Amino acid sequence: MNESRLLYLSRDDVVRVGLTMAEVIDSVEAAFREKGEGRTEMPPKPGIHPSGGDNFIHAMPAYIPGLRSAGVKWVSGFPGNAERGLPYISGLLVLNDVDTGLPLAVMDCTWITAMRTGAATAVAARRLARPESSILGVLGCGVQGRSNLEALKVVLPIGEVRAYDTAPGVAAEYAAEVSDRFDVTATVVHSPREAVSGCDVVVTAGPIQKHPHRTIQRGWLDAGAFASLVDYVSYFDPAALHEAHKFCTDDIPQLRLAQTAGYFADIPPIHADLGELATGRKPGRERPEERTIAANLGLAIDDMAVAPLLYQGAQERGIGTWLPL
Ligand SMILES: NC(=O)c1ccc[n+]([C@@H]2O[C@H](COP(=O)([O-])OP(=O)(O)OC[C@H]3O[C@@H](n4cnc5c(N)ncnc54)[C@H](O)[C@@H]3O)[C@@H](O)[C@H]2O)c1
Repeated sequence: MNESRLLYLSRDDVVRVGLTMAEVIDSVEAAFREKGEGRTEMPPKPGIHPSGGDNFIHAMPAYIPGLRSAGVKWVSGFPGNAERGLPYISGLLVLNDVDTGLPLAVMDCTWITAMRTGAATAVAARRLARPESSILGVLGCGVQGRSNLEALKVVLPIGEVRAYDTAPGVAAEYAAEVSDRFDVTATVVHSPREAVSGCDVVVTAGPIQKHPHRTIQRGWLDAGAFASLVDYVSYFDPAALHEAHKFCTDDIPQLRLAQTAGYFADIPPIHADLGELATGRKPGRERPEERTIAANLGLAIDDMAVAPLLYQGAQERGIGTWLPL
């Protein structure tokens, strides 16, 4: 290591490293085992909210000793960006040396955020979905609609996707793309209920709202289904949430913090966090007919599980730009 320089990885550089979703899932799962053993350090994320609305920029620091990973992600979500032709999620991640604290790398975090969120869904699905789950409903066919499908394909025999999106044409474009890319039969459905009822797994990935639209009603989610709520509980009516036999999240203190800000106003008791599920301290699915839900908020350990793999892979392949410190 040369302590007077750091590696800069642009958005393209990060993609060119070529990490697979399976590798990302393995590392995110290892991070959750570390968390379950009480070895990670991850203060709940502070945030600022420029220009009002649902805009946010969050600081997400974490240390995962077992993965020799330390650093921080500085990530923004600006819902109005779609109209500007800009990504909703953007930001940078700083990776530090765990022995010296020196910055090793600065990298774009768009790809990491997409992939690790899907990976966290997969870690939950391994424990909460029926292993034979093959039909996936996706509500919100954007970045997360894609990465969650990609991750679920790694851990479950997903063969059919029912795609729903409120924006005209988006679900059709998604269905055409993912049919080829992930070797699934993807169809567009024209009501949210068709992407929920009859599905083994449901992913909700529309906008996060403090005042949920509560579209998904009691009785829609089948017995035996697993739902991954990427958009907090924005899509679910509380009565539908309360049908869950096991309601899980990735980190309970972080969910409690979100509640103080007005999110997750009416949720069932929390069965377990992903660290408890990954270490087996709490059981996952116990009966085929259970309805299970994971509402993962997205954690700094997800990102810091992936960053060292990118740093190492980029060096092995000569990718990125070295900058003086
Ligand atoms: N939990 C986490 O770790 C985590 C991480 C990243 C993003 N997110 C959240 O995931 C969600 C999706 O993010 P993204 O990057 O995929 O955004 P995106 O803009 O790429 O996609 C969102 C899609 O949802 C569609 N949509 C809007 N309202 C809808 C509705 N009511 N029903 C169905 N579709 C609807 C939009 O048309 C768009 O296609 C956001 O809420 C984001 O905050 C969560």
